[in-house]
This record gives sequence, C-alpha cells and structure tokens, in this order.
Amino acid sequence: MKIAFVASEGVPFSKTGGLADVVGALPKALAAIGHEVEVFLPRYRMTKPGPVLPHGHSVTVPLASGLRFVSIQNGGDASGVRHCLVDSPEFFDRPALYQENGQDYPDNPVRFAAFCLAALEFMKRSASPPDVIHCHDWQSALAPIYLRTLYQRDPFFGNSSVVFTIHNIGYQGLFGPEVLPRLSLDPSLLTVDALEFFGKVNLLKGAIVFSDFITTVSRKYAEEIQTPEYGFGLEGVLRNRADRLQGILNGVDYEPWDPSTDKLIAANYSPDNLKGKMLCKKALLERMGARQPVLNRPVIGVVSRFDRQKGFDLIADIAEQLMSMSLYIVALGTGDPTYEEFFRALAAKYPDKFLVKVAYDNTLAHQIEAGSDMFLMPSRYEPCGLNQIYSMKYGAVPIVRATGGLDDTVEPFDGRNGTGFKFSRYSPDALLSAIREAVETYHRPALWGQLMHNCMQKDFSWAVSAAEYAKIYERQRKLRLDAKAASHLPAGTSEARLAAV
Ligand code: ADP
Ligand code: GLC
Repeated sequence: MKIAFVASEGVPFSKTGGLADVVGALPKALAAIGHEVEVFLPRYRMTKPGPVLPHGHSVTVPLASGLRFVSIQNGGDASGVRHCLVDSPEFFDRPALYQENGQDYPDNPVRFAAFCLAALEFMKRSASPPDVIHCHDWQSALAPIYLRTLYQRDPFFGNSSVVFTIHNIGYQGLFGPEVLPRLSLDPSLLTVDALEFFGKVNLLKGAIVFSDFITTVSRKYAEEIQTPEYGFGLEGVLRNRADRLQGILNGVDYEPWDPSTDKLIAANYSPDNLKGKMLCKKALLERMGARQPVLNRPVIGVVSRFDRQKGFDLIADIAEQLMSMSLYIVALGTGDPTYEEFFRALAAKYPDKFLVKVAYDNTLAHQIEAGSDMFLMPSRYEPCGLNQIYSMKYGAVPIVRATGGLDDTVEPFDGRNGTGFKFSRYSPDALLSAIREAVETYHRPALWGQLMHNCMQKDFSWAVSAAEYAKIYERQRKLRLDAKAASHLPAGTSEARLAAV
C-alpha cells in the first residue's frame, strides 16, 4: 500500500518530543513490511536541507490571504522511506517549532494550514494517490478536515482513507471562530457536529470527526480519553466514534537507543556484561558536577518536557523528604518557567544531590538513561511515554504513575517478575512510597539484579505495532473501495445493501 504521513515533527529532521520519535520510526517499520511510505514534514530552521527535487518541487498553496508558492525539498530516502520537506521560510524559518518564551506563534493555525495544503497539493503531483493518509496531532488535523471539505469532490483522493493518531489530547488547536475564513474553511463548519467547541474552533475535534479511523498511542489511553478526567472535553466526541478508535502502543527504535551500541554514552554494556553501566553512572555524576560521587547511592533520572502533564508538582511536594534520603536526582528538561526555576533553586540548595540541566540536550538524555539506576515518570497523564521504554533497555528501572502507556508498559516487580514500581493515586504520598520501595529494593543486590535483567530483556520494537497499523490501513482501504462500489450500484439492490454493510 502507498501511505503518506503528515506530521509536524520527525527525527532526524526536527524534534520537541515523542511524536518526532514515532514519526521517525513507524514509517521505517512499515517500509520493512513492504509498504511504500512518504513522510511530509515542515522544513524548520533546525532541519538540515536536502537536495531540491528535480521535478514538481514547487506547489501553489491557496491561502485566504493570497496564493503562496511553496517548495517541497527532498529530505532523502532512508530505510525505504521518502521524506518531503515543506519549505516555506515565511512560516517555518523560525528559532522554534511552535512557540517562543512560552507563547505560541500567533499565526500557528495559518502556518499549519499552509503545511497541510502544501502536502496535499504535492501528493496530487504523484502518478498515484496514497491509499492512506496518516496524520498526527492537531498540527496536521487540517489535512483530514480539508480532505473531507475543500477536496471532497477531488477525484484524485477518491480512494484515499484518512487515519488520525492522537498523541496528546491536551493540545487541541483551539482558535476563535474568526480563524475559519483565514483557513479557507466555510463558516458552516462551526457546528457541534463539526469543528465547534464551546464557541471556538477545535482542529483536533475536526480531525476526530472527519477521519475514517482514529488511533492513540496506548490501549489504556484509548480508554482514558473517553472519560471526563482525561478527555479534555472531547470525551463525548470520542465516545461517539468509539467503534473507530483503537489504542496501539508505540514501539521504539532501538537503533539509537541501545546501551550495547550507543555512541553517546561513556561505555557500552549489555545484560550479560554490566561493567559499563557503573562507568556510565560515574561519568554522568561527574558531568553533572557531583563532588566525589558516591557510587552506591542510587541515581534517579528524569528527562522530560517540564510541563504540568508530567507530574512535577508531585516531585516538588516531596522534594525535601527526597533530599533527606541517600540518593541522587539527575534531571534534564525545559519548558514551564515555574518548574525550571523550581529545579534550579533545588539544585542550588542541594548541589551534591540534586543535579539539573535546564536545556534540550539529546546526548545528555542518552547519558542519563545509561547512568541512572531508576527513571522517574510520575505523569498526571501519559498517552504512551517513550522514556520509560528506553530506560528499561538501559537497565534504569522505571518508577511511574499507572496511567496511559506507563501503565501498559511497566509491570510491578513482585520480587521475581516485573519491570518497575507503579503507583495509582495522583498524590505525593503515593509517589514517595513508590520511590522508597524502589530504593529499598536497590539495596538488595540479588533482587535488583533480577529486576534490571527483567527490564533489559523487554522488547518494545515496532514490528508488532506496525503490523497493527497495517491491518487498520488495509481495513480502511477495503471499506472505502466497497463503499465506492456500492455507490455505483443501483440503490436498493441486494448487492448495494450488502456492500454498504
Ligand atoms: P513527550 O512526547 O510527552 O514529551 P515521550 O516520553 O513520548 O514524552 O518522549 C519524549 C522524547 O523527547 C524522548 O525521546 C526524550 O528523550 C526526549 N526529550 C524530552 N525532553 C528532552 C530534553 N530536555 N533533552 C533531550 N531530549 C528530551
Ligand atoms: C506525546 C505524548 C507521549 C507519547 C508521544 C508519542 O507527546 O505526551 O506520551 O509517547 O506523544 O506518541
């Protein structure tokens, strides 16, 4: 099948979070099982340029404010996947992807409208249409919306199905109703069964309504987002489409994330030879400025966007108790200035225990996975979470809240089986007792060795999940072709009725 991915970030071209890891890895896994995959991404300032395509490298994008001529750069073919970079300096040649100093770019809806339209226009240059267009999060939500409105009668896309993946329902693309004409969308779309959401335009809702099938990134999260606690107001819309919603756990790409081959860490190691792990721990503590590192104290790692989602208020609540224990916390992240400040202040107060770097630093992210004994993710909600999966491979035992993908990937350690420590109630006490249990277990070497071994043996590679996506694509293609065939049969015939089922 021919599959086109439309997404706002993807490694190795751009990244702010796990979406980029998924968009980098899932297409490769689909190509490996025989699909033809093309990935559309914006070309940001951080994106390295590719060679310009020899043919059809410029498309006309019909924005309400006037036509734009956007070039599509060839990002190269890697592992059987073709990358198309939408190059519009006006919209994407900026210091960041979505926001600066905590403020979203005010023209975000128009930026991502231009991106989606450019991708669709470029697809039309191809000899054959994609069987499936797979879009991700609110920034590409306009692709399904345009396909089922502006392009509804375009015969080129007549056989193309749209699959939409929700990576985080906390970000919906909410704008005032005046945005509709700016996006070349008819004001009649401002209704409760289309884009309207409490008087505003909600692009994520539009994608949920207009896509043929919706997925999210873990089984548990697919259930959670249908409840008021986790649905961010879209639970009802999702419940209405529950027969078209499936949770598929993200896989991970072990090529960059494997301690036996990782070039970014101080020493390589594997389950059979863990000597390198201690060297990584020592190197990490030294790099983070610990004076005379004490190697038999556990290191708890944190690598994260500093965001309310990630449960940092719980860590703040128990910070003093944690600092009275014999351990190190090594944290890396950026985001909400409140948490950045809080972590900096804590590091200043406990320079020998709380080691923090406020930055985005991929090398350090790898070094923390390798040098930590435990990895902390007390998220308020977590659609999938990739760091806990990477951490298992690196023998850094996850301590997580039982939500979304954290619940689906970590099994509580019972002394023999299991891979980590979980707590359910979103409370400082529950977090503290999970950390205490982890620290006690750490000091019982036989148990800890078993636990590390269990973690490192786990395999979350993409093959299984990619096959699940392929099944969905295939089903959607068939449904679409059957529906089309039915629409050509005389109404009321038994064949027409059968095909419509
Ligand atoms: P989310 O997408 O919600 O941020 P995930 O766990 O799915 O959470 O993915 C986060 C990804 O971003 C991981 O690959 C992680 O290593 C990376 N990451 C997050 N913060 C940083 C940072 N400050 N520096 C480097 N990498 C980071
Ligand atoms: C989102 C989620 C995260 C998930 C990632 C990739 O950013 O917050 O839990 O792992 O997308 O799907």
